[in-house]
Amino acid sequence: MKIAILGGTGPQGKGLALRFAAAGVDVALGSRDGERAAQIAQELNEQQQGVTGVISGVDNLAATAAADEIVILAVPYAAHNATLEAIKPELNGKILVDIVVPLADGDPKAVAMPEAGSATEEAQVLLGDEIPVVGALHNVSAATLNKLGHAINCDILVCGNDLAAKEKVIELIESLDVKAYNAGPAVNARCIEAITPILIRLNISKKVPFSHAGVKIWAPDH
Ligand SMILES: NC(=O)c1ccc[n+]([C@@H]2O[C@H](COP(=O)([O-])OP(=O)(O)OC[C@H]3O[C@@H](n4cnc5c(N)ncnc54)[C@H](OP(=O)(O)O)[C@@H]3O)[C@@H](O)[C@H]2O)c1
Repeated sequence: MKIAILGGTGPQGKGLALRFAAAGVDVALGSRDGERAAQIAQELNEQQQGVTGVISGVDNLAATAAADEIVILAVPYAAHNATLEAIKPELNGKILVDIVVPLADGDPKAVAMPEAGSATEEAQVLLGDEIPVVGALHNVSAATLNKLGHAINCDILVCGNDLAAKEKVIELIESLDVKAYNAGPAVNARCIEAITPILIRLNISKKVPFSHAGVKIWAPDH
């Protein structure tokens, strides 16, 4: 299987590429600059040990075209809509996984939700009903993803309006040895995206003995 990660040259995209490659998934890393992506892909492949998926680097449009089915959008919110417009022609028959958190300008401890309600819903409006959009991976930190020797010890909340697309994305994410939950329709991305600045606030607080924490669903013991 080959997936694409657009904006894959950033810390979140690189961490996801390393994790998916370690799970045997090939990754087309996308960038505005294909040469930069190729260079970073080579560096990431050199970090991998044992038999893994192959990471290649191309521009965002070529990465979208190279994906079998799943395309992960990992650019900052400021680049969300323009990147989607640019790749839309190559998205037919594919699933867009939106991991973008609309953080407030200059304040990572707050969100500025778009008029559509959330980045995930905005993507669905922009791409139209033919292309399923699934929101996921908003609450796991790049630091966690990039610590390859450590398990991802949080859960992943997945939302979207197309159940079949969500199930495929959940299966892909669970290949990372992490629990992913169907968290309902795309409208629930309003809550899921908005958890991230709360996590950032906690993680940078001097009152807690941790950083890079995520969300975990605890089953009751009764
Ligand atoms: N970092 C985290 O811990 C974390 C956790 C959860 C969710 N997220 C979400 O994941 C996404 C990526 O996070 P990140 O920290 O990796 O972001 P980032 O480093 O700020 O950006 C990722 C990549 O996006 C591309 N990009 C930057 N500005 C752009 C622009 N104006 N137009 C088009 N492309 C642009 C760049 O790639 P090129 O220059 O190569 O094109 C950059 O390497 C964000 O939406 C964030 O909210 C991040």
